[in-house]
Amino acid sequence: MTRHPEESKSVMTDLVLPSETNPINNLFGGELLARMDRAASIAARRHSRRIVVTASVNHVAFNMPIALGSVVTVEAKVSRAFKTSMEVYIDVWIEDRESGECIKANEAIYTFVAVDETGRPVKVPEIKPVTDQEKLRYKGALRRKQLSLVLAGKMKPNDATELKALFLESS
Ligand SMILES: CC(C)(COP(=O)(O)OP(=O)(O)OC[C@H]1O[C@@H](n2cnc3c(N)ncnc32)[C@H](O)[C@@H]1OP(=O)(O)O)[C@@H](O)C(=O)NCCC(=O)NCCS
Repeated sequence: MTRHPEESKSVMTDLVLPSETNPINNLFGGELLARMDRAASIAARRHSRRIVVTASVNHVAFNMPIALGSVVTVEAKVSRAFKTSMEVYIDVWIEDRESGECIKANEAIYTFVAVDETGRPVKVPEIKPVTDQEKLRYKGALRRKQLSLVLAGKMKPNDATELKALFLESS
């Protein structure tokens, strides 16, 4: 069974309310993390059709503050499926009130694992990227998985062949 990234797409749009802001009236980072986790878990569930749990937050870039009252859209898609884990890419957009144009504010990469009712990891379907962006994200996912595992102390740096190749290529 093979699925496409688009089949996992999850889009959540919501306002920024006063209770969700920091002292300078921008969206609190933890609130954005929670919104991204929700959208990403729906994407991982749509791809795997299983129970999914967050295994790691691999990367978050809070590039742009998001002001009180903003309309925020969180879009998540599975970028690559491994044996039991899935990398999910999340793009965050804010909508300009007057033009209606969406501006990319932030992005993040999470890893989810599909599990059975007892919490044991189970196999997930393969994924086949279609668009150029999906292909690019798919290609980079293995080295990001290796980096995450090395940082978590679950993989020896020496075994991270894909990750090491990146440094050798650029030297
Ligand atoms: C995520 C979890 C199921 C992994 O269990 P585990 O016993 O480590 O299982 P495994 O070692 O077989 O790993 C399962 C998969 O997760 C991947 N994985 C585990 N930790 C990872 C990490 N830090 N980064 C990236 N991938 C990771 C493994 O590489 C493996 O992927 P693969 O099967 O696709 O190759 C387990 O750690 C867990 O239940 N954690 C808590 C999840 C949770 O409650 N999240 C919400 C936080 S409040």
